[in-house]
Amino acid sequence: MAKSELALVILAAGKGTRMKSSLHKVLHPLGGRPMLHHLLSSAEPLNPTRKVIVVGAGKEQVEASVGAQAEIAVQEPQLGTGHAVQMTRDQLNGFTGDVLILYGDVPLLSTETMQKIIDTRQNSGAAVVVLGFTPKDAKAYGRLKLDKDDHLDAIIEYKDATEEERAITLCNSGIMALSGEHMFTLLDSLKNDNAAKEYYLTDVVEIANKMGLGCAVVEADEQEVMGINSRGELAEAEAVFQNERRQYFMDAGVSLKDPTTVYFSYDTLIGQDVTVEPNVVFGPGTKIADNVTIKAFSHIEGTIIGAGSTVGPFVRLRPGAALGEGVKVGNFVEIKKASVEDGAKVSHLSYIGDARIGKNANIGAGTITCNYDGYFKYHTDIGEGAFIGSNTALVAPVTIGDGAIVGAGSVITFAVEGDALAIARGRQKQLGGWAARFRTDKKAKKMV
Ligand code: UD1
Ligand code: CA
Repeated sequence: MAKSELALVILAAGKGTRMKSSLHKVLHPLGGRPMLHHLLSSAEPLNPTRKVIVVGAGKEQVEASVGAQAEIAVQEPQLGTGHAVQMTRDQLNGFTGDVLILYGDVPLLSTETMQKIIDTRQNSGAAVVVLGFTPKDAKAYGRLKLDKDDHLDAIIEYKDATEEERAITLCNSGIMALSGEHMFTLLDSLKNDNAAKEYYLTDVVEIANKMGLGCAVVEADEQEVMGINSRGELAEAEAVFQNERRQYFMDAGVSLKDPTTVYFSYDTLIGQDVTVEPNVVFGPGTKIADNVTIKAFSHIEGTIIGAGSTVGPFVRLRPGAALGEGVKVGNFVEIKKASVEDGAKVSHLSYIGDARIGKNANIGAGTITCNYDGYFKYHTDIGEGAFIGSNTALVAPVTIGDGAIVGAGSVITFAVEGDALAIARGRQKQLGGWAARFRTDKKAKKMV
């Protein structure tokens, strides 16, 4: 069968009041990325040719976040889920492919389940395919009413359901696929003569049945269709996301010594034979090669780490940090927007920002790149094999040549030539016997 075109409709016009937030609910992050973008990205492999997001309040925020990735339809006021889909008429009138309707606040839906819904629509020819699930607690979800042949008769909203209908355990996730050919005909027949006085999307099932168009059900796991209405549910979804990532990385050859204390971002990439100790956080934009060890209590974002490197404990790697191969970054070091080339070491208590550290250079304990004058940022360049003594301040812009040595405690303000020794600190002087004379004098004064 020829695959038909796919349109995505993402419903996001609900008020989201329980989040108590000035940020639109669907823009709250999960694994470091707005939940709306999780959906867009999970749907991408299905090659949707149209993407419409239905919004009410907070339209500008959603628009700014998706840019040219999707069209925006406005639903104002919000008269129900069916009414929300009606608002896509400008974008989807005349569209005859499949329409996959998603909820912006149900972000964990997998590509596989989306594919299964679309395949069922195409293979069964049913005009409506509903994604059902059997939750542990059926709460106030809509109930899927099947006939004796397991054919979907109707979706009954909890508010409108009889006791007998409420006893049904198969529930409506809200997600469904419609045939574009019939979608607006079905939507145009919706009425709001129900307990909520809303235009229920769920009523398209009965309408399609009456028209002889056919309906089908696909089932999903409860976790995949969990909706996020509050900060508590957001945290629950985050936990589901993190657990999935932890298992994924362990399956891919990463050792997590205490998995539940390691946090990943949606785009974290990690090679094989990497060990991650407890309490490590990966913010967005991190890529780690093979045979790396990340020691406990490190926070890493926007960073590339080359093969065989060791990082931590207590290391902070910020955006633009790029470590080469066999690099060592040790205790209490912060690195931002700096490349640390192969074999270089920054072992203790340093701040390295806006810098290059050449191959095999050794940066002594407490070295600071003074990169900011309160107005602008400046670059520090440290050559291959250079040795920077402990507690050195490198006042940028400044260059340290290949193989140079900087004496401990220096404040370096201008370029150091390659292979030179630079010392920039008060010269040490010594007064023999001074300390003993000092003590004798003070003790004598104290006795009177
Ligand atoms: C809906 C389903 C119910 C299902 C439940 C799953 C209907 C009538 N009921 O319930 O069967 O079990 O989802 O959570 O469809 N939205 C709009 N505009 C509106 C109303 C809602 O865009 O006018 C969006 C919301 O932002 C949300 C989604 O639609 O993303 C669902 O809305 P919500 O009010 O949570 O669904 P219910 O009506 O409770
Ligand atoms: Ca809901």
